[in-house]
Amino acid sequence: MSGLQAIRYSRGKLEVLDQLKLPHEHHYDEVSTSEEAFDSIKSMRVRGAPAIAIVAALAHGVELNNGSCKASTTQETISYIDSRLDYLKQSRPTAVDLSNAITYLKNTIRSVNVAGNENDVAGRDAIISAYITAAEEIFRKDTKTNLSIGEHGSKWLLENAPIKSSDGKVSVLTHCNTGSLATSGHGTALGIIRSLHSGGHLQHAFCTETRPYNQGSRLTAFELVYEGIPSTLITDSMAGALFATKKAENNIAAVIVGADRVVRNGDTANKVGTYTLAVLAKYHGLKFIVAAPTTSIDLQTETGAGIKIEERKPEELTQISGAVVGKDGKVDVSRTERVATAHQGISVWNPAFDVTPAELIDAVVTERGVVVKGTDGTFDFKGIIPE
Ligand code: MRU
Repeated sequence: MSGLQAIRYSRGKLEVLDQLKLPHEHHYDEVSTSEEAFDSIKSMRVRGAPAIAIVAALAHGVELNNGSCKASTTQETISYIDSRLDYLKQSRPTAVDLSNAITYLKNTIRSVNVAGNENDVAGRDAIISAYITAAEEIFRKDTKTNLSIGEHGSKWLLENAPIKSSDGKVSVLTHCNTGSLATSGHGTALGIIRSLHSGGHLQHAFCTETRPYNQGSRLTAFELVYEGIPSTLITDSMAGALFATKKAENNIAAVIVGADRVVRNGDTANKVGTYTLAVLAKYHGLKFIVAAPTTSIDLQTETGAGIKIEERKPEELTQISGAVVGKDGKVDVSRTERVATAHQGISVWNPAFDVTPAELIDAVVTERGVVVKGTDGTFDFKGIIPE
């Protein structure tokens, strides 16, 4: 498993790698309050659906551990925790992992047996202790989940690949960042790529730049190089040309992406550009695989039309940050600058995600197994998420 860690935690202390500074600088921010977590998530210093949920859950655990709750009854304690979680939920709206984590945490604190202690601090402390244990459990379980997704996804792809090398290897394309940086470790879509690589079945991984915020070039490229996985970076607009001219030579078998929200019929919200890649994959006869832990599945929403898509500020399109390149061509990582790349007066539309219709998706890989479409062309998650 990768040594890269977006989130460092021990009880009472949470540190989050500032992903806006990557790949040039490795700086961890200490996150000790809900406000700091909200800001980290909203500004995308931490991003990726599972990582957002983990940071929110743990940050509130840290502030509880540090005595932020002054309630004197269990009811006041529950109301206090609820209000902090409801606040954190507003940080980013599209990924469902945060909202699923919040539901789990709220249910956990309500299931604590406080009989006889409803009106004293022993009841409060029992609830706080249950909260902290549950938040730590979310963090701890995530890497295990991703390792299972890696196993299920790599096996499914090798069994269903439309093209392979003579020695049974495949190449894949991925979009955005779904690796150790987006999770507690290993990653989801990138976890499948890691598993293919460690099993000796990966010919090559292609990653997109992922405009506008460059999670592909800043983060995925960094993870792939760090891991020594054979890989190539392309701009988002090069995917069609890649499939048209290099599919046979590279045995490009699939596009593998993560998910921010998979809804009941299988429609999937993920980083903007995912939908375009799904259309291209269909045209070029590639498998289109969504890697999604069950915490990214939302059975309350029927179709993609019900997903709220976050829209972000224009500057993410019209400006870019980077390390300065000297006259000698060397990158000076100690000097980062923000530069404008477009006329600052242009009007901008900047949706952070798009929705890929279930019709274009071949498989949803969860930690509990792979779900494929039934004869009616939709996904049925009942087998993996009992209702
Ligand atoms: O805006 P981001 O960087 O949070 O978007 C991330 C993605 O779209 C990922 O594909 C998704 O959250 C899954 S991460 C395992």
